[in-house]
Amino acid sequence: MCGIVGYVGNKNAQDFLISGLKRLEYRGYDSAGIVTLDVKGEPTLLRAKGKIANLEEKLAANKRDDTIGIGHTRWATHGEPSEENAHPHRAGEIFLVHNGIIENYKELKEHLTEHDFKSQTDTEVLAALINSFYKDGKYSLINAVVQALKLVKGTYGIAVVSCKKPDEIVVARSGSPLVIGIGHDETMIASDASALLGHTKQAIYLNDGEVALVTSNSVEVKTLNAEPVSAKVEEIETNLAAIQKGGYEHFLLKEIMEQPESLKETLRGRVNLEEGTVRLGGPGIPEAELRQIKHLVIVGCGTAYHAGLLASYYIEQFTPEITVETVIASEYRYRNAYIPENSVALIVSQSGETADTLACLREIKKQGVKTIGIVNAIGSTIAREVDGGTYVHVGPEISVASTKAFTSQVIAMVMFGLTIAQAKGVKPAILKPYVKEIAKLPEAIHDTLENAKGEVEEIAKKYVDYEHAIYLGRDTAYPTAMEGALKLKEISYVDANAYAFGELKHGPLALIDDRFFEIALVPKGELYEKAASNVQEVLARNGHMIVVTNVEQFDLPVERVIRISDEIEHFAPLLMNLISQLFAYYTTVAKGYNVDQPRNLAKSVTVE
Ligand code: AGP
Repeated sequence: MCGIVGYVGNKNAQDFLISGLKRLEYRGYDSAGIVTLDVKGEPTLLRAKGKIANLEEKLAANKRDDTIGIGHTRWATHGEPSEENAHPHRAGEIFLVHNGIIENYKELKEHLTEHDFKSQTDTEVLAALINSFYKDGKYSLINAVVQALKLVKGTYGIAVVSCKKPDEIVVARSGSPLVIGIGHDETMIASDASALLGHTKQAIYLNDGEVALVTSNSVEVKTLNAEPVSAKVEEIETNLAAIQKGGYEHFLLKEIMEQPESLKETLRGRVNLEEGTVRLGGPGIPEAELRQIKHLVIVGCGTAYHAGLLASYYIEQFTPEITVETVIASEYRYRNAYIPENSVALIVSQSGETADTLACLREIKKQGVKTIGIVNAIGSTIAREVDGGTYVHVGPEISVASTKAFTSQVIAMVMFGLTIAQAKGVKPAILKPYVKEIAKLPEAIHDTLENAKGEVEEIAKKYVDYEHAIYLGRDTAYPTAMEGALKLKEISYVDANAYAFGELKHGPLALIDDRFFEIALVPKGELYEKAASNVQEVLARNGHMIVVTNVEQFDLPVERVIRISDEIEHFAPLLMNLISQLFAYYTTVAKGYNVDQPRNLAKSVTVE
């Protein structure tokens, strides 16, 4: 997703802007730009298509010691990736950077006849609109921004500077995050706190409908209706090491390999092994209310959706008389779905900023349904708008492909389910096995990763030339297969899809030929025999099958068997998913593609 940075203070603005944009690169972008102002307001605007390195080439010949400026990495929505469409956009004496989508930009543009449009972007329309209020001096910069935003429909996170006032930045947000870093005689702006790390730990998280006037030593926040807001300065809850590669070649491998530690953070203080119980502080639902819960709606997109789907299978296993429905946010938000009495909605999102998930949350809240966040990014919009929540605490997830967040989201939702079951008086003999396995998972994850990574790398190289893949699984291995297929497709661009094993004969079996290879997740258990016979269905069509299993002896004539420990029974699919993560990673490395920033994708999809 697009990234915003801004600086006003006593240091070199160009240096901060470039380093800040590099921190936001992981979010995905296709062009970048910065503008700085000297003490007289003389602007230096630099923009480039492609990577920030291209922008740095231009910077080398345009070094300035300016101390105020704004910058942007753009992920194209309106207008192709190009220098003309890159932000900042200029209108008169102002420059603007913008995250989000101005939905009514076409009708606004019709009235802005005095502006000579140079780009195809909705952002330039917003810049021209602000300037239409600013240019004749009737409004100050912040008031011109307010007047313009009152006419805007859509989402925005913006930063604006003016050549007339080279000591102030105006920022505003509605639907796209903005954080203000408080330094000593300097103030920084970013769309993601990671850009502030190493500069300050103090931050103000702007809320929707707020606008702020920022100088090197002041921040004044108000609403669009000019009501002053007493902004809360918060501690940024992460550190520099967490957003660096720590010796790994890619963030993705680092985040796969740190899952033992990240899951431990998710479990910290929440599991009582002696009692065999869990305790979640965040949701804040009284015991009596937990007992009344009859229906769960789990909402997410992509990997978060898969985590919810997998968690729903587990919650049904140990929580009687409740129904669990897992829905894709972008679909559910437009359905006229009835949510019955005694329901709770789990809103799952690593970034806490996904537009469709946020919109779904707001729709569900309109029905008066209690909403619980399963979120990673501290202070994110979803985390702030839910009624209660459980942070998964896996630390910043930088790589576009989500891995450690998935594992912890599943377990966090399972723990929420166990909390309900405990309140409903489900026998400890039913719940304790799950709690014991949860406590053992970090170590089991560590062992699985260490034991499998060399073998998976070797196998990935052997299958690197296939363009089509099928993931297969039954029961809890089916949502896990869906997640495995997503991992492979989103970073290696292999056409990978998942099917429930039982669905093969209803159509997908027709696909099997030498263009495809298959990865089957086959855990021990009452459905093992059925899955084994499904494997034989594929082998009978000369499938090229890899089986991931925790059975001791798997002797069907598949091409490869990747064996994992059988010490974990219920959550074996989470260990199998590690194999899928590693397989996607090594396949992508073998193909030579960009592991952390795959084409066309962004880490946090804050536009619809
Ligand atoms: C997962 O690997 C993808 N990057 C994507 O599907 C992601 O899970 C989805 O966009 C949801 O993001 P969120 O968890 O931040 O809401």
